[in-house]
Amino acid sequence: MTATTTTTTRTAARVVDAVKVYGSGDTSVRALDGVSVDFPAGRFTAIMGPSGSGKSTLMHCAAGLDTLTSGTAHIGDTELGTLDDRRLTLMRRDRVGFVFQAYNLVPTLTVVENITLPLDLAGDTGDKEWIDALIDVVGLRGRLHHRPSELSGGQQQRVAVARAFAGRPDVVFADEPTGNLDSRSGEEVLGLLGRTVRQTARTVVMVTHDPVAAAHADEVVFLADGRLVDRMTSPTADKVLDRMKAFEVPS
Ligand SMILES: Nc1ncnc2c1ncn2[C@@H]1O[C@H](COP(=O)(O)OP(=O)(O)OP(=O)(O)O)[C@@H](O)[C@H]1O
Ligand SMILES: [Mg+2]
Repeated sequence: MTATTTTTTRTAARVVDAVKVYGSGDTSVRALDGVSVDFPAGRFTAIMGPSGSGKSTLMHCAAGLDTLTSGTAHIGDTELGTLDDRRLTLMRRDRVGFVFQAYNLVPTLTVVENITLPLDLAGDTGDKEWIDALIDVVGLRGRLHHRPSELSGGQQQRVAVARAFAGRPDVVFADEPTGNLDSRSGEEVLGLLGRTVRQTARTVVMVTHDPVAAAHADEVVFLADGRLVDRMTSPTADKVLDRMKAFEVPS
């Protein structure tokens, strides 16, 4: 189950001494207050923490969607701060996948067109075998020519997951991917993320505030007040819940 047989652990993404301050003066908010964390390749990592603890900020900065006030963010060996806008856009397009709470599918395109959209936009024919395997992993073989409006929320999010992995990215970042789903559909999407990581050796970093969701990950990192306060391997929902309760004790 654990990575005991893994000989080398590559880091898919990491931030070092990450500080993010929004605004300035009296109204400034220190959303990240010196976070260093690495996300190992081939693993499913969850970022947990109370509302406002900096989870989304950490994800956005690690993924190159936002910039740090100080510190560095890296995808593989690439330090994002060294890239100009064009290179950053290309890096996000080619090496990073995203899944958000809102599925963000294009309503006029079919399921299969949505899945291959990022590749089509990049003028890339993609890896047909990979896309084909992905369609089976996400269980959408029978829905390929449906439009998003003809699918359930869970099915739509599975399309978004397939789209995120379509270009074989180094890392897929997911921010509350089950936030809009009922618990059963949510379980399906979480199981899918876990299976995709394990069956295809991809890397997922998922932001969640739900202990049940976090329990699907290989490892959970905990944020509180913009700081990394703990890490937990082989999480269970109960263990994660217990750890979260400790944050809520008034000081
Ligand atoms: N664009 C922004 N401008 C100003 N402050 C912001 C901005 N985005 C986030 N913040 C603040 O930074 C802190 C961290 O926010 P963030 O969205 O990262 O938290 P979160 O852990 O993802 O919370 P949630 O679980 O509610 O999504 C919060 O205090 C928030 O109000
Ligand atoms: Mg958030």
